[in-house]
Amino acid sequence: MSLSEPLPLPCGAVLPNRLVRAAMTESIADRHGDASPRHERLYRAAAEGGPGLVITGNVMVDRAHLERARNVVVDSWTDDAALRRWAQAASAVPTIVQLSHPGRQTTRFVNPHPVGPSTGPAVALGGAYARPRGLSVVEIADLQDRFVEVAERVVDAGFAGVQVHAAHGYLLSSFLDPGTNRRTDLYGGSLLNRARFLLGIVTAMRRTLPASAILAVKLDARDDDELAELGPWLEDAGVDLLEVSGGNYEKPAMVGLDASGADLAGEHESPFWNSAAALSVEVDVPVVLTGGFRSRAEVDEALETGVCDAVGVGRPLAVRPELAGRFVRGEIDTLDRPAPRLGGPAPVRALLGAAVGAGWHRIQLVRTSRGRGPALRLPALAAGLDYSVGDWVRSLVERPARMRRARRF
Ligand SMILES: Cc1cc2nc3c(=O)[nH]c(=O)nc-3n(C[C@H](O)[C@H](O)[C@H](O)COP(=O)(O)O)c2cc1C
Repeated sequence: MSLSEPLPLPCGAVLPNRLVRAAMTESIADRHGDASPRHERLYRAAAEGGPGLVITGNVMVDRAHLERARNVVVDSWTDDAALRRWAQAASAVPTIVQLSHPGRQTTRFVNPHPVGPSTGPAVALGGAYARPRGLSVVEIADLQDRFVEVAERVVDAGFAGVQVHAAHGYLLSSFLDPGTNRRTDLYGGSLLNRARFLLGIVTAMRRTLPASAILAVKLDARDDDELAELGPWLEDAGVDLLEVSGGNYEKPAMVGLDASGADLAGEHESPFWNSAAALSVEVDVPVVLTGGFRSRAEVDEALETGVCDAVGVGRPLAVRPELAGRFVRGEIDTLDRPAPRLGGPAPVRALLGAAVGAGWHRIQLVRTSRGRGPALRLPALAAGLDYSVGDWVRSLVERPARMRRARRF
């Protein structure tokens, strides 16, 4: 199997190649949470860059629960025409919308009243996160409906499908994780119970969405045995694509760092290699491995040995979206690695590591959305502060306008 080979999915869609442009939160919505012309510019560049599939940054299913300021929100107050323009701009290759609820992993400045599977503890990062309240069963059922309704809306708007975000410490990931899910009801305890929320969403989406819509799920590489057990359940529920990545804000493995902020080192470029391999042997549905891929040798080995069926790439494509097609066509053998490193003592790196890892690249996305080229000399610390403190300020300023829209109707 090679990177340039098309990938057929169970729903009938065929991805033109096996390079997936991974989800990256762009936070460039207007102050009401609607997609803007900047999304159109960013995703036109992402799709025309030539990957086989584009996954958007996380789109929220509840305007009271954002992951960060200026996330797109889809609910009854959303401007569908803006969604249609966004879908149209990204139509050079199949583009799917990542749907998410942040759960407990949203700072107190974005949301002073976060929710999660269980009450407390807060995300342990310098007091920036509030203690979550455990969701009631009625609230879980309501959120399940919201995920499904939003999926219908974005597919109606012209997107090729959706990805349900169940990774990186957000709500559905925290239900799956026994470290954050301490419930004693039907949604806690055994893996089947912890997966009930996600399985409910996926089953209902498959029933509701057109049969040709792509239904994907992103999962954490937290526990290989659980991943191998969960995969076949999701496959039976009608999923087309399973993506494996990992890490969260407390343990930022998704940006190549351990909990102390030091670089992760391993046998392979991707820290999640073994987890994808454990999942791939259990399912027929295609598996995407995302995180760390930069060289053709590693990508080829992963595809040829059946560790995965496609590879996801995030950060290099935030800087230069056109690298996707050039890598697939064999014109280049490595993906640029321009990310800056954050120095300083371990506690500072632990606190700001994820913010720098993602913040520097988010600014590159913002630049593309404005029609500008990358800023390769952007200092790491400035990007980290923009991603954290800058976001808190934007959240505090903009929250009233976003919520006012909901109250006006
Ligand atoms: C700026 C930025 C934003 C991200 N936002 C999301 C997101 O919205 N949803 C998601 O599932 N992952 C998100 N990620 C994680 C990426 O999808 C990917 O898993 C991670 O960057 C590892 O892949 P890479 O080494 O190729 O960058 C984000 C990463 C970055 C750098």
